[in-house]
Formats: sequence, structure tokens, C-alpha cells
Amino acid sequence: MSAPADLRRLTTPQDLFQAAAEEVLRGAADAIAQRGRFAIALSGGSTPKNLYTLIAANASASLPWDRMFFFWGDERHVPPDDPDSNYRMAKETLLSKIPIPPANIFPILAENPDASAAAAAYEQTLRKFFVLAPGEFPRFDLILLGLGPDGHTASLFPETAALQEKSRLVVANWVEKLKTSRITFTLPVLNAARCIAFLVSGIDKAEVLHEALEGNSSGEKYPSKLVQPSDGQVIWFVDRAAASELSTAG
Ligand code: 6PG
Repeated sequence: MSAPADLRRLTTPQDLFQAAAEEVLRGAADAIAQRGRFAIALSGGSTPKNLYTLIAANASASLPWDRMFFFWGDERHVPPDDPDSNYRMAKETLLSKIPIPPANIFPILAENPDASAAAAAYEQTLRKFFVLAPGEFPRFDLILLGLGPDGHTASLFPETAALQEKSRLVVANWVEKLKTSRITFTLPVLNAARCIAFLVSGIDKAEVLHEALEGNSSGEKYPSKLVQPSDGQVIWFVDRAAASELSTAG
């Protein structure tokens, strides 16, 4: 498998987060200039924490925050104040530090004990915001994604049911190895995006990044391989440690 079209190799994690922050703010400026708004889906886990912190630290109050709209590509099945909540992490590192109108923030209501109901509710949130016709998918300006050690992205884990979903926008996905449901965008939503940005940092991601970008395993085993927007850009922001097992020179 050849290197992706846009593999951005940075040296240190800080360089990676700086480059990603610049891309987020550039994408926001473009989207707002061209379409009047910027719709972004945040990723969870630990990698994006530093990105969100950096954006909050550098983002000036003069930015058109009221034209930016924040969603999540996935969420753990926990309340918003849970330490594992992706919403909580983004609120603590970014959303509580920028002048974003609360109405512009769309958390997944994962406190609902019924994960399927939470997914269905979020799907309606997307349908309403993007004014979708039946069968239409939302076109996010930017979706941030991470890469799990097993190759998962968002909460699309290897060999889980959500990988087969072709019509729903958001589903509850049972992850046997975690013994929990996750709520996640489906592949059609990821693949409808204008831009996907993967953030992959650290030596513990070196093997999975090599597999994801250069291995011959199937997308069932490495779901990040199934992220192939039909009319959108995919950017991989990787640091030197994460890229250390890639064969491509650079
Ligand atoms: C989540 C994320 C998940 C994450 C990867 C990488 O809810 O955990 O959406 O897909 O991006 O697991 O996580 P780290 O950044 O913590 O390695």
C-alpha cells in the first residue's frame, strides 16, 4: 500500500499538535469564508488533548467562534462528567476556554442508559443541523480521528458490527473486548467529510501506523483503512516516533 496522499511527518509531538492546530484554524477560516460556517467533529482519547489545549491557548477572541459548530465523532457510553467522557475532555481542554456559544456545541447524550437511543438521538441532531434529506449524509468540514493500537478509529473497532453499517449516521457499537457499547459515526459519515485529519503520536503507535498505511491486512482488521472520503481530503499528522516503522522515506 503506498503512502497516503497527504502524510505530514512532524518531528516532535509538539510539532504535530502545532501543525494540526494550524490546519484546524485554516480549515475553519476557509469554511466560514466559503459557506458561512465550520462544522467539526472532535475525536477523543488522549492524543487530541494537547491539540485542544494548544488551540485554546492560541485562538484569539477575534476568531468567528459563533460560526463554528462542534460535534463528536464518537463517545464512550458514560455521563458527561465521567473521566472517560470525550465531551468532558474537550470541554476541559478547549470548549471552556473559548468564547463559543453553548448552542454551537452538540455533545452525544451518552448518559442515556440505552446506547442505541443515544445514537438515534444524535443522528436526529445531525439530520436537523445539516438539513438532510432521507438517505443523505452530513458533510463535515473537518473530522478529527485518532488511531487505536488495534487499528480502530472513532469507535469503529476491528470486526465489529458498525463496520458494516451503510445507511445509519450514528450507531451504538458493542465492543466485546471492552465489554461496553460505544456511540460512533458510521463509515458513510466519515467518508462524506470534506477533510479527515488523523493524529498519530508516539512510539506505541508505530506498528499500527505501519499496518494502517503500508500493511496488507483488511479494513475489517484495521478500520482506519476504510476511511476513504469519496470527495474529501485525508491528512495524516504523524510524529517521528509514530512514523518510525514506516518504510516510506521522508
Ligand atoms: C476514543 C477515540 C478513539 C481514539 C483512539 C486513540 O473515543 O477513544 O475516538 O478512536 O482516537 O483510541 O486514542 P489515544 O489518542 O488515546 O491513543
